[in-house]
Formats: sequence, C-alpha cells, structure tokens
Amino acid sequence: MGLMGLGTVGSGVMQIIEENQRHLQQQIGCPIEVSRVLVRDMKKKRDIVTPHDKLTTNPADIINDPDIHLIVEVIGGVELTKEYLLQAIENGKHIVTANKNLMGTYGVEILRKAKEHGCDVFYEASVGGGIPIIRPLVESFAADRVHKIMGIVNGTTNFILSKLSKDSETFEVVLEEAQKLGYAESDPTDDIEGIDSAYKISILGSLGFQTNLTISDVCSQGISNITKRDVWYGKKLDCEIKLLAIAERDANGISLSVEPVMIHQNHPLASVNGVNNAICVYSDAVGETIFYGQGAGSLPTAHSVVGDIVAVAKNMNQGVSGRSLPETHEEKRIKSDDEIYEKYFILIEANNGNSSISNIISSLDGIFDTIECFDKSIDENACNEIMIKTQLISKSNLNKVLRKIEELSVVEKVASVYRMEGISA
Ligand code: NAP
Ligand code: HSE
Repeated sequence: MGLMGLGTVGSGVMQIIEENQRHLQQQIGCPIEVSRVLVRDMKKKRDIVTPHDKLTTNPADIINDPDIHLIVEVIGGVELTKEYLLQAIENGKHIVTANKNLMGTYGVEILRKAKEHGCDVFYEASVGGGIPIIRPLVESFAADRVHKIMGIVNGTTNFILSKLSKDSETFEVVLEEAQKLGYAESDPTDDIEGIDSAYKISILGSLGFQTNLTISDVCSQGISNITKRDVWYGKKLDCEIKLLAIAERDANGISLSVEPVMIHQNHPLASVNGVNNAICVYSDAVGETIFYGQGAGSLPTAHSVVGDIVAVAKNMNQGVSGRSLPETHEEKRIKSDDEIYEKYFILIEANNGNSSISNIISSLDGIFDTIECFDKSIDENACNEIMIKTQLISKSNLNKVLRKIEELSVVEKVASVYRMEGISA
C-alpha cells in the first residue's frame, strides 16, 4: 500500500500495522507492506521512524506505482486530494480515506468512479474516529428504515464543551489542549464552527437515508457563541449544551442540522464527555441504537483506517472488490424552515429590571400562544433576564417570534436561542 500523510492519523496507521502485523496477516493471508509514504516536508522531525527512501513529496510516486494496490489517504484537503484519488482509481487502486471534507463534498463522484473501475473506497474513519458507524449503517441497517440520526460527531468541540462545563479554564486554553492532543483539524475553525460536524452528518444522512446529501444541505452553527450563562441556564433546566449533528427524515422530506442543543440529562448524549463521540440511530424495527467511543486522535482513528485496509485486502483476495459500495436510490427532498418543527429555549434580557420582565411576560402571553413562560427569576443576580421554553414551533415562525420580541420596547436583546432535545412533552 501507499500511505498519503504521516501526521496524527498516518503515524497511528504505521504504528498499528507495525505492532499488529502478525495478527493482520492471519486475517488477510499476506503481510501489509507500506511501500511509499507521501509527506509535505521530508526534513520534518517525526516520532515514527520511517526509512527515508520510502518518503516522497511527489504524489505520482504512489498514484502511478503499479506495485501499489491500495492507497490510504490521510493528508486531508478537498480539491487536490480529489484529483489524486480519482487518478488513483483510474489506475485501478483501492482507496481508504479518513477525509470527511472530501467524502461530504465529492463522495458521490468518487464512489461512482470507483464502481466503474471495480475499486473499493472505504471511509469508516471519516465519521466518529474509532467508532464503527459507516459499515453498520450500510450493512447492519440494510433491513431497517432509519428515520433519525443524532450524534456528537466532533471530538474537539465536545472536549471543549465538557471542560467548560466543569472547569474554570478558558476556551482558548482548552482549544490549545485539543490541538496538542491531535484532535483538532489543521484549521480548527472547521471544528469550532460546526463545519466538520456538517460534513459528517451529510455522510451519515446519505448512508442512513440512501440519498445523496452534501454539506450544502446542512444548516450549521458552531460553539463560539455559547456563554457560561447559557451553560448555567441549561443546568437549571437539567440540560447539558452539546454540539449535535442531526439528520431527520419523514414523509415530507429531510432536514440536516448542526447546532448547539440543550439536551436533557436523561438522554444518553448528555453524558458523553471529553473527546468521545456518540451517535444515536433511530429506525423503525430496532428503535434506538447507540454507537459510542473515542471520536478523534491518532490510534482510535487509525484503528478504523486499518480495519478498512483489512476489508479491502479481504475483498481483493476473494475477487469481490468494488461490490460493497453503498447504493443511493431515494429521492432527495430537503425541508424548508416552514416544515421543521422543534422546541426551543430563549433567553431574553430586559432593559431595566423586574417591571420590564412582567411587561415582557404579559406582552408575550398575549401575542405568542406557542410560547410558555415558566420561570421569571431563576437567578437572583440576573433580575433582568427571563427564559422561555417554547412548544413545538416551526423554524420560520421562531424567527418571526424572535423579531417581534426584539421589537418590544422593554426588551434589551434576545441573548440566546437553543434547540431543545430529550425533553418530554
Ligand atoms: P495532520 O496531522 O495535519 O497530518 C497531515 C499529513 O499529511 C502530514 O504528514 C502532512 O505532511 C501531509 N500532507 C498534508 N498535505 C499534503 C500535501 N499537499 N502533500 C503531501 N503531504 C501532505 O492531519 P491528521 O490529523 O492526521 O488528519 C488527516 C486526515 O484525517 C484529515 O482528513 C482529517 O480530517 C482526518 N481525520 C483526522 C482525525 C484526527 O483525530 N486527527 C480523525 C478522523 C479523521 P507533513 O507531515 O510533512 O506536514
Ligand atoms: N477534528 C475532528 C474532531 C477529528 O475533533 O472530531 C475527527 O474527525
């Protein structure tokens, strides 16, 4: 095989292959030999020892090498990487990748090309790090009908939110820690702003609903606006704030979102902490199924990559390469904001104390019958704040409601809005 990338994931792949060679050989029937490794900087100091003559900075040394049957892509990036992989597939090479940005953007094109050329493309590590979720969705749910997938699919942001919920460290310090541990993307903006999760939920939604979804179908928001006060209010409601990626399907269509959600402590996702990820799959026959484990980091991710390498090698041995690719056959219809109904938490700041609060409450009582004010003075020190828990309300109606609230003369501002999950009726 050729390995493209020797960073966090690539060095984990090398380590697992070296340490478990005998075990892998027993399953595959032959050794795995990493014959070339693509890097950007040949002179970089690395923890993993690789013979210098295996290293190259020229992707063609891997893509065009007739002795390389399988390429493991862990360099990241989208446009250039897509060109490398399409070229490799044209040359008959099987692909294993951890690249959600690539699969969430050009997955359809890459899988189609692979089918044409009888090549395997496996991407288990692209979602959930070390958690098996892609193969279960494709194979284990084949007989069932999935209607909702909801999960914590970004290790970096869950690590940050868990620490902020318990410790007194700042956002910046915790992010730096996540970067040092190899959890964050090279540009952590993708993690923080929910973009990484959006790629992942587009992949999961495509597989779960057998349709072609991409990142452009996902409505996404990150964690940078979450405040300590929001976390405090969440706890008052027995909720944790988690960045959730959610794909839902019903008879009217599909909705895909990534956003910070107040989720009730009784829900299993509320207690997923640190770099761990968890994905709940809801389907007609089995009901709720939960996949849990370490969602980022060198060895957990490499575990999924090497699992895919074994799958490719077994298919090669059995002469069935390119036959296990996921099929998409369902029509895609993305719901509009008028059709998406959720419950929300809204925090409002009044412009001067308790008299404004009672004014706001009476104004809201009269105007918005979907909204229930249930506590006016939860924090003694925050006498100019009220929180609202809505009933099910469409996204478009919510936006109208928020605009009307902001127009009230007694309202300073709408400070926060969170979707709520796991709340019983
Ligand atoms: P990383 O630590 O930054 O490593 C990237 C590696 O690719 C480095 O070895 C780098 O070379 C090489 N590289 C990058 N661009 C290149 C180019 N244009 N030409 C040649 N070599 C290039 O990244 P990573 O964390 O391992 O992530 C790799 C991929 O796995 C990404 O798609 C990421 O989203 C995905 N992933 C990561 C994790 C995780 O926990 N880190 C988990 C799941 C999926 P140098 O070493 O010379 O700089
Ligand atoms: N940056 C990603 C995360 C890596 O933190 O989840 C795993 O895909």
